Amino acid sequence: MSDQSSSPDFATLAVHAGERPDPATGAQNTPIYQTATFELPDTSGQAKQPSGQPGDYFYTREGNPTTHVFEEKLATLEGAEQAVASASGMGVISAALLTVLNPGDHLVCSDAIYPVSQDFITSELPRLGITVVMIDITDLDAVAGAIRPETGAILTEFLSNPTLDVADLDALAVIARKADARLIVDNTFATPYLLRPLDYGADLVLHSATKYLSGHGDAVAGIAAGSADLIAPIRRFIARYGSPISPFNAWLLIRGMKTLHLRMDRHCENALALSRYLDAHAAVRNVMYPGLPAHPGHDLCSRMTGERFGGMLAIELAGGEAACGRLAGELEYACRAVSLGDVSTLVLPWTGRNLVRVSVGIEEISDLISDFDQALGTNSDMA
Ligand SMILES: Cc1ncc(COP(=O)(O)O)c(C=O)c1O
Repeated sequence: MSDQSSSPDFATLAVHAGERPDPATGAQNTPIYQTATFELPDTSGQAKQPSGQPGDYFYTREGNPTTHVFEEKLATLEGAEQAVASASGMGVISAALLTVLNPGDHLVCSDAIYPVSQDFITSELPRLGITVVMIDITDLDAVAGAIRPETGAILTEFLSNPTLDVADLDALAVIARKADARLIVDNTFATPYLLRPLDYGADLVLHSATKYLSGHGDAVAGIAAGSADLIAPIRRFIARYGSPISPFNAWLLIRGMKTLHLRMDRHCENALALSRYLDAHAAVRNVMYPGLPAHPGHDLCSRMTGERFGGMLAIELAGGEAACGRLAGELEYACRAVSLGDVSTLVLPWTGRNLVRVSVGIEEISDLISDFDQALGTNSDMA
């Protein structure tokens, strides 16, 4: 990892990075520049590519001062040269893959990632002449064996959705470099507070900002970070294909990220305690959480994240899929919902599998454990 000892602490950067008093009014908080267009600086009608400096903006699809602050904050936290925001996590995943890869290229992709990312990769990329192999990303020999001369990228989530597989980013970066391919890491579950993939040799880091970066479940957004050379074409793609973030959502992201470190500490603490409780419960057959020593990625994750394992876990119940649905229905505080990374606990029974994904919120842990206790206890065949 890079030496961060001389730079400000993550907490300080989360609050201050990218922010400055508004140059027009002195407003201490970044205003929402809720405007589609900007007065052009002269009569030539020639709009420049915005540099992010006041006066350089001309149309919000291409760039906006509020969006720019969100991008600068995330770039700083990820240790990246630049970042670019989009309307959703899928917006940056599609933009990143379609700029890094060209027809004839090949993608090596983890087979355990978010199902909609998988759907995009297996449905859309082959249509455009890009071949794909889906692979167990924890099997490094299989990953190395899947590389072809035309492999342009390896894509993985650091902590996978929903099974919490842990990707060995150092080793994947070595394989990618040897193949002259890009390593692209979806860091949605860990956030830069737990781990900065670029420090491990990744070329691009992607987020569904809808999740922990926002933290409050009130905005759908995505962001990609990396070198200026890689971000520039993604920025052009997002403008051309028309998927920019709205200034209001960028503002919600700026506000959310100021407390990322505080929320993540609590998510990690609560998820570890809940996973230990669930692991000891007779109705629970298996707990997938890298904080538990029995998890296959425990040691790797410990080393990479400083023993912080995030707020996501998944459980299999002894009573099977029907019990999973009932558990989700019996919980009082947890909402049965897709998405994750919210301050509130969210649970999702995973269709077709004996699995409930739990996005552990920041509530008082004794209340969460009591809630799971009553929900697991209500149904005699849950066990
Ligand atoms: C790991 C991961 N990546 C990407 C996405 C897609 O993000 P969005 O829903 O913001 O488009 C999700 C959504 O759940 C996700 O969990």
